[in-house]
Amino acid sequence: MGRSTWKYQVFFLFSLILHSQVPFPSALSSSLSSMPPCSALLHFNKSFSLHQGVSGSPTSYPKTASWREDKHCCTWDGVECDKNTSHVVGLDLSSSQLFGDILSNSTLFFLPNLRRLNLADNWFNDNDSRIPSEFGNFKSLTLLNLSNSGFSGQIPFEISQLSSLVSLDLSNNELLIEAPVWKRVIGNLTQLRELLLDKTKMSSIRPNSFTNLSSSLTTLSLHGCDLRGKLENNILYLPSLQTLDLAGNSNLEGSLLKSNWSCRSLKFLSLSGRMFSREFLDSISNLKSLKHLALRDCNFTGSIPAWLGNLQNLHVWI
Ligand SMILES: *[C@@H]1O[C@H](CO)[C@@H](O)[C@H](O)[C@H]1NC(C)=O
Ligand SMILES: *[C@@H]1O[C@H](CO)[C@@H](O)[C@H](O)[C@H]1NC(C)=O
Ligand SMILES: *[C@@H]1O[C@H](CO)[C@@H](O)[C@H](O)[C@H]1NC(C)=O
Ligand SMILES: *[C@@H]1O[C@H](CO)[C@@H](O)[C@H](O)[C@H]1NC(C)=O
Ligand SMILES: *[C@@H]1O[C@H](CO)[C@@H](O)[C@H](O)[C@H]1NC(C)=O
Ligand SMILES: *[C@@H]1O[C@H](CO)[C@@H](O)[C@H](O)[C@H]1NC(C)=O
Ligand SMILES: *[C@@H]1O[C@H](CO)[C@@H](O)[C@H](O)[C@H]1NC(C)=O
Ligand SMILES: *[C@@H]1O[C@H](CO)[C@@H](O)[C@H](O)[C@H]1NC(C)=O
Ligand SMILES: *[C@@H]1O[C@H](CO)[C@@H](O)[C@H](O)[C@H]1NC(C)=O
Repeated sequence: MGRSTWKYQVFFLFSLILHSQVPFPSALSSSLSSMPPCSALLHFNKSFSLHQGVSGSPTSYPKTASWREDKHCCTWDGVECDKNTSHVVGLDLSSSQLFGDILSNSTLFFLPNLRRLNLADNWFNDNDSRIPSEFGNFKSLTLLNLSNSGFSGQIPFEISQLSSLVSLDLSNNELLIEAPVWKRVIGNLTQLRELLLDKTKMSSIRPNSFTNLSSSLTTLSLHGCDLRGKLENNILYLPSLQTLDLAGNSNLEGSLLKSNWSCRSLKFLSLSGRMFSREFLDSISNLKSLKHLALRDCNFTGSIPAWLGNLQNLHVWI
């Protein structure tokens, strides 16, 4: 332990020397990958102010407030380094009360070895709220969480270059995804296990394209995405799916009715805010693993089927 702290401090001194020789920001454009990670984080930190109100989580606190220049950045709250290489491989500043912008010249993009990045539950909507295309540069990223952070506009197609992503959460922003970007996301993000895009406008996306999502997908959350059209037979042939949230898509046609539910592993299903036939409801009884079923504000034809009461351990919200 003592030894690695010592190593960090030597690295840090080195990075300070480098930094003092390289004036900022003019060096940005010339030597993109050469900025030491601690300097990059230091400048990243300077682009925000702290506002308690911007993080909704009751356990939020300003992680960056304890960052000190005289400590190596690998010891800073929310920063994770590879012990051998001292590369910054993880940054978790979720619910950290950060307020400001992440622009395309942000020094965040000088951390090319990041594998996990969580900036959820802050407010990056000071002046420019778009997601910069430079997020596509993090080639090693397996986790990206930008939920609840004030982003708006189109999801850049460069997101589809993050082909190692296992978990992508862009939910609860004011984003828009269009068919060409969606097609690339489906084609390239083949490792995905969690995909959460709640509240993203997806009105131009054909629901039957879900068939081609990663077969490893366990969570698909598309709550309130303004999905339109029909979910057809076999549409949910996602063998690993455990959680499916399609609630709040009132224009999604309830033609799932004869669907042969292939995802037998499904544990959580939310379809609130839609209209269903009795046939559809009865088809749900095939989902033997189901534990939670949300059907709030759904209009049924006829009475509530008896089988609902027979499924053991099933929690139903109607
Ligand atoms: C990034 O660009 C903005 C304008 O687009 C500029 O105001 C800001 O100073 C730049 N920041 C850095 C660190 O170069
Ligand atoms: C990081 O920013 C916070 C305020 O946003 C400040 O309190 C802290 O001292 C900064 N840390 C460094 C190392 O600059
Ligand atoms: C660090 O290097 C050692 C020896 O090369 C290796 O056994 C270990 O797995 C490495 N640790 C990490 C976190 O990469
Ligand atoms: C993303 O971060 C938020 C805030 O910390 C958290 O609530 C959410 O569960 C995370 N998403 C995923 C997929 O883990
Ligand atoms: C806000 O962004 C616009 C365009 O993106 C830019 O012209 C303007 O200088 C920015 N203002 C501030 C305060 O950064
Ligand atoms: C798919 O990912 C690879 C590797 O990251 C990248 O080179 C390629 O451009 C991506 N394709 C699309 C269509 O985004
Ligand atoms: C799924 O992918 C295959 C092969 O790329 C393609 O031919 C087919 O049209 C896709 N299906 C949908 C519904 O997008
Ligand atoms: C439903 O799926 C099962 C298992 O995949 C299959 O054996 C059966 O033939 C399917 N039934 C219909 C009506 O498609
Ligand atoms: C359910 O029925 C009510 C009354 O007929 C109607 O106002 C409402 O829009 C329907 N909801 C859905 C989701 O179809």
